[in-house]
Amino acid sequence: MARIGVLTGGGDCPGLNAVIRAVVRKGINAHGHEFVGFRYGWAGVLSADAVELTHQTTAGILHRGGTILGTSRTNVFKEEGGLERVQASLDQLRLDALIPIGGEDTLGVAGKLSDAGVKVVGVPKTIDNDLAGTDFTFGFQTAVQIATDAIDRLHTTAESHNRVIVVEVMGRHAGWIAAYSGLAGGADVVLVPERPFDVDEVCERIRRRHAGGRNFSIVVVAEGATPKDGELQSEFATKDSFGHVRLGGIAIQLEREIEQRTGFEARMTILGHVQRGGTPCAYDRVLGSRFGVEAIDAASEGDYGKMVALRGTEIVRVPLAEALAEPKLLDPKLFETAEVFFG
Ligand code: F6P
Repeated sequence: MARIGVLTGGGDCPGLNAVIRAVVRKGINAHGHEFVGFRYGWAGVLSADAVELTHQTTAGILHRGGTILGTSRTNVFKEEGGLERVQASLDQLRLDALIPIGGEDTLGVAGKLSDAGVKVVGVPKTIDNDLAGTDFTFGFQTAVQIATDAIDRLHTTAESHNRVIVVEVMGRHAGWIAAYSGLAGGADVVLVPERPFDVDEVCERIRRRHAGGRNFSIVVVAEGATPKDGELQSEFATKDSFGHVRLGGIAIQLEREIEQRTGFEARMTILGHVQRGGTPCAYDRVLGSRFGVEAIDAASEGDYGKMVALRGTEIVRVPLAEALAEPKLLDPKLFETAEVFFG
């Protein structure tokens, strides 16, 4: 029997509650463990703000979006005496190990804590699907489905008004959501951070399409896409405690450029946090549950310093360091497949 702390950090993500439920369910039933859930990610660990997690408190949450624990982008190593405060909190709550559920930032903190001797098993989470070491993160498929539904809806209004509609999706510096939703939604142009774009080429493609008899176009742009020779087109100047600039707004500039250069009426839609809200799709509930079960098994076996991951169809464990080495950028072959349907 062990006492284990669970936390969710970074942006919320559909499927987080499935992981929490799985960790607790398997941990109590198979191993007799006790659990606490830290509130608001690493912020809760620093202040020992935790609640008991039991069968009762984790019942009925599988289908719920967000995280019952709350989340934050707190960076332990930017806080005064961060490491010592984490250790004090673990001592105070008599915890043997931690299961942090998060993306590169949350797991980056987990990696440093692991190097300092804290027993951790990480669970990869992000709608962006940009974490190395795992083929997919949970939350991604839900975000893609939401973006695809939006693109379907934008098609009918674009067609009715003979407009170019620019749809901005999330993904930070990776184009996974843009490429998947663009392919699924039949986009005419997809712009991703991995391939800086030329606005003239985008306009030329739209002109050719319209000259060929079509009277509307759908452009999907990832929030982190950048024009060739251009600066990042974020509308915001703020950075979080991990140094990430807040992205968003490239669609505003694209709408203006496309309309001015082509003469076609253009409108933009920024999907934003809609992509992260609401119920997880079935795939993400299953992946989250599989990750949670594997994470508690790893902790029970004392297999620390690992992150659970999906490789092919198997759930495996990879060293946290391997998972954190580089962000996983869009597979060029996937982009080439999406490109077949452009224009
Ligand atoms: O990493 C997930 C994500 O949704 C990114 O796609 C996006 O850039 C960022 O988080 C937004 O963060 P916030 O919720 O802090 O605005």
